[in-house]
Amino acid sequence: MKFKEIELEQVAGFKSQWPDESIEEIAFVGRSNVGKSSFINAFLGRKNLARTSSKPGKTRTINFYNIDNKFRLVDLPGYGYAKVSKAEKAKWDKLINEYLHDRENLKEVFLLVDIRHEPTNLDLQMYNWIIESGFTGFIIATKYDKISRNQLHKHIKQIMKKLDVADEGLIFAYSSETGHNIGVINEQVEVIVNS
Ligand code: GTP
Ligand code: MG
Repeated sequence: MKFKEIELEQVAGFKSQWPDESIEEIAFVGRSNVGKSSFINAFLGRKNLARTSSKPGKTRTINFYNIDNKFRLVDLPGYGYAKVSKAEKAKWDKLINEYLHDRENLKEVFLLVDIRHEPTNLDLQMYNWIIESGFTGFIIATKYDKISRNQLHKHIKQIMKKLDVADEGLIFAYSSETGHNIGVINEQVEVIVNS
């Protein structure tokens, strides 16, 4: 799938700022710093469209990227970042949960996890919610460039075990640095958009 017009349509700190529900949305969730915004940049082929940072807690709003007026990709704040105040954490969690629970045009949710680390209990909670909500359960295992090829199997197994993933085909080892598997994910997104 090729993209012609990509636009940051809306930056929303409140529900009242969400764009209308006329087109379907695909959302990307995961811990702070896992690489959600970097994924969106690499996926859309725009280096600095979504703002990224080596420090966790960069994305603090819900950002809606409109693709050819056909669908939207949705970048969410991360969860699980220990170094913010309780109040801030509660605010982000509210934003994320409100979006996931209330959004009628939400077509699919991808969970991003760092391929190097065992998913956390918060990841498990999120993944269970994704499955229970009837979404497919795709997982993007980011930062694949940080491990060696011969460690891949071990890390994929670790993710499958912690999140109780039955089908290995749901997990994409991925790197925003090398673009590994970006074509495969593009094809998957195309299937989702056209289904
Ligand atoms: P929040 O907005 O804080 O929730 O984080 P995020 O999930 O959007 O992460 P972001 O894309 O800002 O990336 C966090 C850091 O990880 C940045 O320094 C990125 O350059 C780096 N990063 C993201 N993806 C990859 C990857 O695939 N490989 C490597 N090596 N670094 C990555
Ligand atoms: Mg981000």
